[in-house]
Amino acid sequence: MQKSLQERSWKFRIMVILSITLVYAAVFYLLYDKTRHGVVTNVNLIPILLLSWIWGVKAGLLVMLINSLICSGIIIRIITPDAIIGIEAVQAMIIHFSFALALGSFSSLNRKLMHQINEREKVEKHLQEYKKQLEAMVETRTMELQKANERLRQAEKMEAIGQLAGGIAHDFNNQLTIMLGYTEILQKRIRDDSQAKQYLKQIYDSGKKASDLTKQLLAFARKGVYAMQTVNLNEISTEIKNLLSRGTDKNITIITTLNAKNPYVWGGINQLQSAILNLALNACEAMPKGGVLTIKTDDLIVDQQYLLSHSLNIKPGDYVCILVSDTGTGMDEEVRKHLFEPFFTTKKENNGTGMGLAAVYGIVKSHKGAILVESEPQKGSTFTILLPQTSKIITSPDANNMNSVPFSKNVSVLIIDDEKRVAATIKEMLYEPGFSVKLAYNGNEGIEIYRRYWQNIDLVILDMIMPGLDGLQTFNALKEINPEIKAIILSGYTLNKKIEQALENGAKAFLQKPCTRNELLSHIKFVLNQKVSVPLNR
Ligand SMILES: Nc1ncnc2c1ncn2[C@@H]1O[C@H](COP(=O)(O)OP(=O)(O)OP(=O)(O)O)[C@@H](O)[C@H]1O
Ligand SMILES: [Mg+2]
Repeated sequence: MQKSLQERSWKFRIMVILSITLVYAAVFYLLYDKTRHGVVTNVNLIPILLLSWIWGVKAGLLVMLINSLICSGIIIRIITPDAIIGIEAVQAMIIHFSFALALGSFSSLNRKLMHQINEREKVEKHLQEYKKQLEAMVETRTMELQKANERLRQAEKMEAIGQLAGGIAHDFNNQLTIMLGYTEILQKRIRDDSQAKQYLKQIYDSGKKASDLTKQLLAFARKGVYAMQTVNLNEISTEIKNLLSRGTDKNITIITTLNAKNPYVWGGINQLQSAILNLALNACEAMPKGGVLTIKTDDLIVDQQYLLSHSLNIKPGDYVCILVSDTGTGMDEEVRKHLFEPFFTTKKENNGTGMGLAAVYGIVKSHKGAILVESEPQKGSTFTILLPQTSKIITSPDANNMNSVPFSKNVSVLIIDDEKRVAATIKEMLYEPGFSVKLAYNGNEGIEIYRRYWQNIDLVILDMIMPGLDGLQTFNALKEINPEIKAIILSGYTLNKKIEQALENGAKAFLQKPCTRNELLSHIKFVLNQKVSVPLNR
């Protein structure tokens, strides 16, 4: 291909040279008779210079040869047989030859140089483009790195706050269990003094609020344990839409778009409901003048590319994506930065605890998911939760239904809790239905009592965190005494794995402190009536 192009280019050049020769001969013929050889040769020099310059030494020499043939008389003789060839013509030939050679060589050299310069410029241009591309790549990578660093710092901060919050919640739970427990007992005992009853109600309500707050703190700190089951996020979305449609501002339009074909995730139904509800409530609160709240589900394949572009720290795979967006006030950078921190709120005093999103964050994390936020002031907000999809379809029995099942006989319970006052409160809670209760304040003591009386003990209520033998070690020892043991793990602060291990080893249920008397009784009913072992929580 290259060769044929070259051949064609040379054919073209020869044609041009021949044409020039013709013109050249004609001009020579016309001027020669004027006997001024010099004029002829000077005129002839022009094509030689021109072609030498344009096409190099070969073309120049060719034209010069033709010129020489004419000048040397061969053509002249044909055209004008009596012409005399002057010495100027020979001189001109020599000059032409030198010019053609010099100019042609110079031109070739020049062209070579020009070619090299062009090539260099091309390479430089490419290099510039690569440089720009590289710079752009470095810039985006740096930004991604900065974002990832920011997220890491944020995650570390949240982790530290979580540890702190978890610790506080644990201590609060113990105190609240005592306060709520005794308040309930007093409420039942005081019958006639309505003033005192009102005071007790106030104490109970505040205690309940404090207990809800600690529950949110625990959710944030990911210290809660809950019954795992298959949860349908499309169903939850519909339930939340129905719930909000009844209670919210009529100016807010709620739209659900349930695109997820496999909307199932493995998790705690109450926790997931409360997470989505929190997002939806925030969305409604961000639209005081009305607007549109959209709840949308989708199937999403999360690959490395997606993880990188969103700086996410979850495993690649199939996810259900639930999006809650509003057309409300939106958020600025500063609010976005602190959004998930516990007790961060922009609401006026007493209107918000600032625990809503902190709890959502903890719940999503404990479900091995991720949460993304997009928001700008006055442009609304979109929260997207990603949760790993599951194909297991299993649900657990509803503990509340067990309330109706009566106790068939008096029940004997062993309570093992290092917090003497907590143990005493639980004992008091169980006092009325006619339970017989034994108390132990550490694992060893509990094992000793169980070894002696296990045939008469229907149920063990066991604290998880205790000095010496912890709940799991104690449970394992009790199980060796009686493999059929029925035990409820009761704890305010939990190491997830230990609780899960105890449930796996055969403990029948888990109940989180602080718990109300009703909750405790319904759990006891459930455990004493159940045929299969199901980890369970409120
Ligand atoms: N959809 C939203 N649009 C605008 N701002 C929001 C949105 N969701 C959350 N925020 C901001 O984030 C803050 C923290 O939200 P979070 O739910 O944690 O607490 P809260 O709503 O203030 O209090 P609580 O949930 O206890 O009522 C809010 O005060 C608000 O400023
Ligand atoms: Mg909120």
